[in-house]
Amino acid sequence: MQITFTKPELPKRGTLVVGLPQDGNLGAGAEELDRVLGGGLRRAIEGERFKGRPDQVLTLLAPAGSELDRVLAVGLGKPDELSPLKMQAVGGRIASALGRRVEGSATVWVESGQGSGMEAAEMAAHLAYGAILRAYRFDRYKTRKPGEDEENGETADVTLTGLEILCEGHQSAAERYEVLAKVAEGVHLTRDLVSEPANVLYPETLAARAKELSEVGVDVEVFGEAQMREMGMNALLGVGQGSARESQLVVMQWNGVPEEAAKGKTPVAFIGKGVTFDTGGISIKPSASMEDMKWDMGGAGVVIGLMKALAGRKAKVNAVGIVGLVENMPSGTAQRPGDIVKSMSGQTIEILNTDAEGRLVLADVLWYCKERFKPKLMVDLATLTGAIIICLGHEKAGLFSNNDELAKRLFDAGEAVGEGLWRMPLAPEYDKLIKSDVADMQNIGQNRGAGSITAAQFLQRFVGDVPWAHLDIAGVTWAKKDKPTVPKGGTAFGVRLLDRLMADYYEAE
Ligand code: BES
Ligand code: MN
Ligand code: ZN
Repeated sequence: MQITFTKPELPKRGTLVVGLPQDGNLGAGAEELDRVLGGGLRRAIEGERFKGRPDQVLTLLAPAGSELDRVLAVGLGKPDELSPLKMQAVGGRIASALGRRVEGSATVWVESGQGSGMEAAEMAAHLAYGAILRAYRFDRYKTRKPGEDEENGETADVTLTGLEILCEGHQSAAERYEVLAKVAEGVHLTRDLVSEPANVLYPETLAARAKELSEVGVDVEVFGEAQMREMGMNALLGVGQGSARESQLVVMQWNGVPEEAAKGKTPVAFIGKGVTFDTGGISIKPSASMEDMKWDMGGAGVVIGLMKALAGRKAKVNAVGIVGLVENMPSGTAQRPGDIVKSMSGQTIEILNTDAEGRLVLADVLWYCKERFKPKLMVDLATLTGAIIICLGHEKAGLFSNNDELAKRLFDAGEAVGEGLWRMPLAPEYDKLIKSDVADMQNIGQNRGAGSITAAQFLQRFVGDVPWAHLDIAGVTWAKKDKPTVPKGGTAFGVRLLDRLMADYYEAE
């Protein structure tokens, strides 16, 4: 979707959207529009009991007194309660309301209401950001063109392709939006990756997609099985050994700090679980909903999208992103329950359930990251446990950390972007639950309780004393329902959050 910003001037035709504050006076633009429509806007608002609440949208079709096709009034809520997040939601609702109704472009008039804490330019930039986030579609496998299904009773599938946003300070709005749009590009990349089916996206093709980031200045290395074997990554390799697809390790580096200034400073690191399909392996999953396991590479998808966002907006930070890519399949070469592997760290692991594979991948990637980069901090993301969905549903992701300051920063960044986290405990009592009779540890807990926590305790054995946080995103990676800025499907939960974490705490001035 193409988004442009220009100075406020009432358009003559097409679709016009006006934002109206809750219980407030109409702004100058809305007043002017009302005059053109001979008082039609006011009458419609009063007739429809439109109060300007943030969830309200009112459509006037072909309003008399003008050549406009339609006027859409959207509620902005109370002016003193406006926030970037609320404006993003407004933009998302506009994109959703017009997305399949308007062919081509629409105009949006943004005014800052009385007593508003936000300038029109900032409001406009966040509205645009919300619209672009919501307008995402994954339709590359739809071979029929828009409208072709009409005969079968389906409505014409028109597409909103642009928004022209009118506001005071339109140049400043465009500058602000430019940065946000780069984050949105990262979000869209992650959603693309998470949405791809596993016959198309497997370790080598996912690595190739990551490799494309070199076009935006990210340094990308790809390692295959032979190299990983040499490095001793047997925990990761064991997970992929039943698959016909070769496992891959991808290391991405974005160096946004000039070499001089970066001397003696260590990077921040992001690690992602990239199981391109999780059948469970020999401990095979039931077939119901197994198709969901195409998005078991969601953590890796977030790390790749995040690197694109950081590079795209030229973030002044040195960041490393590492993803372990494997396919978990049953076969004659697959790992068996009872197998014992020696991880890169030297610690041995008894595999009691081949479906608890994500932690095995992360164990080697976390250790590798720590040894090679000596990072300032590590954050891993993984669709790690079904148990976290039992705990937190699909609203928040689980946060585990060995460092209170990092945990607090992550929590705050999540609140700021609308990607909520909830902290879960780590404690020696839980660590005991992964003691093994025959190896240094086993890959599942001794009973069915606290499944997400025992998984996190397992990871903690591979991070040494590096400040570390683990985000269990199993419940939030895929959405079955639309949200204002997140259409159903792959959410890219984590990209906005970690981009914000960098911006707020780790970027040089
Ligand atoms: N990828 C799954 C976790 C998952 C489940 C993600 C549902 C998204 C939706 C993970 O590899 C897994 O299978 N975990 C097991 C662990 C168990 C065997 C200890 C689980 O959660 O059941
Ligand atoms: Mn599994
Ligand atoms: Zn998995």
